[in-house]
Amino acid sequence: MKTREITDRILQLKKEKRAVILAHYYARPEIQDVADYLGDSLGLSQAAGNTDADIIVFCGVQFMAETAAIISPQKKVLVPVWGAGCSLAESIRGEDLKQWKAAHPDSIVVSYVNTTAEVKAWTDICCTSANALKVVESLPADKEILFVPDKNLGAWIKKKTGRELTLWAGDCCVHNPVSAEMVLEKSREYPDADILIHPECACSSDERILGLPQAFLYSTAGMVKHAAQSAKRRFIIATETGTLHKLGKDNPGKEFIPIHPQTICGEMKKVTLEHLLEALEKEQYQVTISEDIRQKAWLPIERMMKIS
Ligand code: 13P
Ligand code: SF4
Repeated sequence: MKTREITDRILQLKKEKRAVILAHYYARPEIQDVADYLGDSLGLSQAAGNTDADIIVFCGVQFMAETAAIISPQKKVLVPVWGAGCSLAESIRGEDLKQWKAAHPDSIVVSYVNTTAEVKAWTDICCTSANALKVVESLPADKEILFVPDKNLGAWIKKKTGRELTLWAGDCCVHNPVSAEMVLEKSREYPDADILIHPECACSSDERILGLPQAFLYSTAGMVKHAAQSAKRRFIIATETGTLHKLGKDNPGKEFIPIHPQTICGEMKKVTLEHLLEALEKEQYQVTISEDIRQKAWLPIERMMKIS
């Protein structure tokens, strides 16, 4: 089947089955183009909660679809490819967090949304990169905070809020290689460009970067907003390269330079149009969470949603 035919069939099935397609900015461009909602982790969680569709087809990695299933238990949540992974979500298990928490009984656990449902079940409050500062600032000042699993996001929150966070040593295998040296070198090459950096990057709490007036730390949705509102013509993008598709589409005439051409999340790219079509045809693969875990995992997400 040609791409056009596949797309037409997807759009037709989506209508017939009252399905909604959610895609992250890191998905393949052709997937982004058929999505009903394209967003960052926070926006996608909100969209999963607000939709009145019967089926949610989630084009992202597994933890994102799990989060949608936790938020919308009455909906059928499908992933076109089963088990797309994330190095952050895989860096900690529910059992690890249970033990860490037991060793710090008076602490508050803040989990980045890039975690499994089991980890969320042991969490007090979740956050995404878009609301992490707000979430941490909302917590009582005298409490110890355990932050899981991203050490780079955690270090950035510490710097920005001045709060003492104890960090889990996880990282994103795509963003962690983005160093201060790489950013400074690109910035010397394009001195007129704004630099938009995801806080999962290793450079996110480096003083040399935080001191640059043209550097801004954002979630992916924050980058999309900044680029649309800025009078600048050039932007260095320090996040997964899928984001450049949306940036380019929204801003003809502006130039977007990836921090590195290999800043690519292979897991996010697993879903193709063919997979998406098959998912709609066969209503596969359904993501289910046991009701016990779901109820526990919903509480920290709900607390986060109230703050966002
Ligand atoms: P955001 O969607 O919060 O920007 O996070 C990026 C990410 O790496 C998701 O896996
Ligand atoms: Fe996980 Fe990193 Fe891929 Fe995001 S980009 S899904 S954090 S591995």
